[in-house]
Order: sequence, then C-alpha cells, then structure tokens
Amino acid sequence: MLKAHAIAGLLAFALVATQAASAAEEGTAALGRALFERDWVTAPGSADASGGLGPLYAARSCAGCHAGPALSGRFTEAPERRIASRGLVLRFADGAGNPDPFYGHALQSQAAAGLTPEGRAVLTASADALRGYVLSLHLAHGALGDETRQSPRLAPALLGRAALERIDTAAVMARADPDDRDGDGISGRAAMIVTDSGEVLGRYGWKAEIATLKEQIADAFALDMGLSSTRRPRLQGDCTPRQTACLASAQSASSPGDHEITEAAIVSVAAYLESLPLREPPSDETAGARLFTEIGCAACHVPRLRTQDGQTVASFTDLLLHDMGPDLDDGVGAPGVASSEWRTAPLVAMQPIGGRRYLHDGRAATIDAAIRAHAGEAAAARARYGALSEAERDSLAAFVSAL
Ligand code: HEC
Ligand code: HEC
Repeated sequence: MLKAHAIAGLLAFALVATQAASAAEEGTAALGRALFERDWVTAPGSADASGGLGPLYAARSCAGCHAGPALSGRFTEAPERRIASRGLVLRFADGAGNPDPFYGHALQSQAAAGLTPEGRAVLTASADALRGYVLSLHLAHGALGDETRQSPRLAPALLGRAALERIDTAAVMARADPDDRDGDGISGRAAMIVTDSGEVLGRYGWKAEIATLKEQIADAFALDMGLSSTRRPRLQGDCTPRQTACLASAQSASSPGDHEITEAAIVSVAAYLESLPLREPPSDETAGARLFTEIGCAACHVPRLRTQDGQTVASFTDLLLHDMGPDLDDGVGAPGVASSEWRTAPLVAMQPIGGRRYLHDGRAATIDAAIRAHAGEAAAARARYGALSEAERDSLAAFVSAL
C-alpha cells in the first residue's frame, strides 16, 4: 500500500512539474511574440526599453517584414503598376559575399533623426510573369562599388521553420551528391559554415548561410533593425567605416558594452517561432502528390527528413544548395556559396493568399510561375512539369499550395 501511495505521489509530482514547465514555455513564447511584434524606436534608454533601433534600419519590427497568415514577406499592388512590398530586403555583395564598401550588407531605407536613409528601391510590375517586377534603386550617397551586385530577398514564411534546426545533419549529408555520382543531374551540396567549434551545417536563409535559429534571430535584430546583442555586438548595425555620420550617431546613442537585445530576448523569440502552429500536411495519396514525386520535385523538396531523436520533420526540403541556373543567379554570393546556388526552399505555408510571393526575390506570384523559373539542376523537373497536361499541372499546384 505504502509503495503504491509513494508511486502515486511521484506521478502527481511529475505531472505538476511538466505542467509548470509547459506553462513556463508558453510564457516565454508569449514574451517572444511580444518582442517579435514590438515596434522599436530610435530614442536611447526609453522608458519601456524598446529603444536602440538603428541608426540605419530597414524595418522597426520583425512583424514589419514577416506578416500575414504565413508570417512572410508580401506584395500589394499600388497605383501606376507600382508594387508595395513588405519584407523585401535588398542585399549587397560581390560574388564571394563581400559587402559593399560603403553601403554594407543591405540597403537601409530608414534612419534615425538627423541621418539620411541610404536610399529606396522602387518596384514596378513587369508584364513578364517569370520576372515579376523591375526594381529601380535610388541611392542617397552615390553609386555602389564596382564589384557590388544587388540581391532582393523576400522574408520567408516562418511557420515550421524552427523545426529545421532539429533535422539530423547526417540525414542531410547522406543526400548530398556534390559531384553528381548518381548521374541524375542533381548535385546537392551541404552549406558548411566554419565556426570556432568546427564546421556546422548551414540551415537558415535562402542561401543556408546561417547555422542556427538563434543566430538567424540575432542577425535580423542586428542587420535589419540595428539592434545589438552579445551575438552581434556592433552598435552601429550595418553601417560601414565609411559611413561616418552613422558611426558618430551610434556612438553618441549608446554606451560601450551595452546590448539592446539580451540573450533571454533571443531565446524568447526562438520559443515563439517554435510554438507557431502548423497545418496537417495534405494526403500523399492525391494525384498532385503522386506527380510531385514522379516528375522529380521530391528529389530536392524531400517530403520528410529525420531528426536526431527519431522523429521526422515534414518541410519538403533537403536543406542542400543547388545551382538553379543563370536566371536565378543575381551575382551576389555568400562565403562558400555561389551566386547561382540556393537552398531548396522548404514548402511550408504555401497558400497563395495575403499577397504571398515565391522564390528568393518574390518574383513569382503563383506556384506555376515559381516552378517555371526553376533551371540549372532543376531543369529536367521543370521540363517534365511543362510536358504535363493542364489538369495535371493544376493538381500539382493544388498539392503544393496546400502544404
Ligand atoms: C527588413 C525585413 C526583415 C526584418 C525586420 C526581419 N526579417 Fe527575418 N528575414 C528577412 C529576409 C529578407 C530573410 C531572408 C534573408 C536571406 O536569406 O538573405 C529573413 C529570414 C528569416 C529567417 C530564416 C527563415 C528561413 O527559412 O531560413 C528567420 C527565422 C527570420 N527571418 C526571423 C526573423 C525575426 C525573429 C526577426 C525579428 C528579430 C526578423 N526575422 C526580422 C526579412 C526580415
Ligand atoms: C534541383 C532541386 C530542385 C528541384 C528538382 C525542384 N526544386 Fe523547387 N526549389 C528549389 C530551390 C533551390 C528553390 C529556391 C530557389 C530560389 O528561390 O531562387 C526552389 C523553390 C521552389 C518554390 C518556391 C518556394 C518559396 O517559398 O518561394 C516552389 C513552389 C517549388 N520550388 C516547387 C517545386 C516543384 C513543384 C518542383 C517539381 C516540378 C520543384 N520545385 C523541383 C530546388 C528544386
């Protein structure tokens, strides 16, 4: 009897402890959501601790770029064929990933009082559905460096993205085939990032340049909003040594050693992204699902990958880099990643609603246009798609948009 009581007591204790742990997680996620949605301000030391934005920045909040049902970038039509974009960042670099000597890693279209924003990008709808739009760049401080190229990057959907971190590195490496030994025309390559503790697999960003969710979050705070953290200690965000007014403004606004974003804040935002709900994936018995595998989409958009703890993540990516051909090559590389290479985009939260766009630069307004822009290693799959009947193409697109 005594023994049974003791076990019941232990069980009750364990139950209370798990409930407390999940309540704490929920609390952290709720705090993370508030930080994700918070509009930061440039004024230093403001009462609610939301100061420190800038001096140069692209948006005031994560939600300013990741919005709508998928928490993604989106486009809306504006008068005179203009496109109003949300969450479109203009990255600057040369083929090896070196930033522009003056403007840095990205166009910062907003600035603290007294400073001039770097410029603005104007988007005009193009009659060519495969191009989507034409971008004209108006810079405030003269031309880009001779080697600098521009890469518009759309804020990806965030539903399900936290799970990419749990995918087993070995499962990704097992699919890599850099020299195309199996001769299928697809030679996926793992994006390896050199860190102090050795090489790690890159998982985040359109070029898989970033290894972990927390690094990605710290990067967003630093580069897109000019908010420093222990992971990204530069107070001046993306302003370069040549941007003297920005440097002076960053120094006068903060004291050295101060970080605007604590590690606890980064942990909370990660917990929020982890908590985002996902839809049930559609049945893999439909005609569209079968076509997806038959014509070779699943060779890169691998439906499920295993995690270290024996579960699976259904994000329709192999997390590998693929050469996608000249049309998707914008001349902007990253360290160890060629300008023509892109991470197989996870296919999650794909519904074409709320101004959702596709591909790294948001050029495609429909799933069909996104597929037709595939080339390079995906040329054979695209050709097989082109050879389908209209009804088959529709059922494939319906399957993808239900993911
Ligand atoms: C100015 C717009 C902008 C802001 C602000 C912004 N993001 Fe992003 N986000 C992007 C873009 C663009 C990318 C893709 C970057 C790339 O690959 O070059 C991205 C990528 C990401 C990714 C990686 C997704 C993937 O599939 O790999 C995560 C996660 C993310 N952002 C979270 C955040 C969080 C959290 C914040 C706030 C701290 C934030 N972002 C703020 C535009 C923004
Ligand atoms: C060789 C690998 C490969 C194959 C095969 C492939 N894709 Fe992709 N897919 C990619 C890569 C890489 C991207 C990201 C390209 C970019 O943004 O520039 C992508 C992007 C996409 C997108 C846009 C996702 C988004 O969120 O913007 C869709 C939709 C898509 N693929 C569907 C398909 C379908 C359907 C097929 C089969 C007809 C297919 N893909 C075959 C590698 C592949």
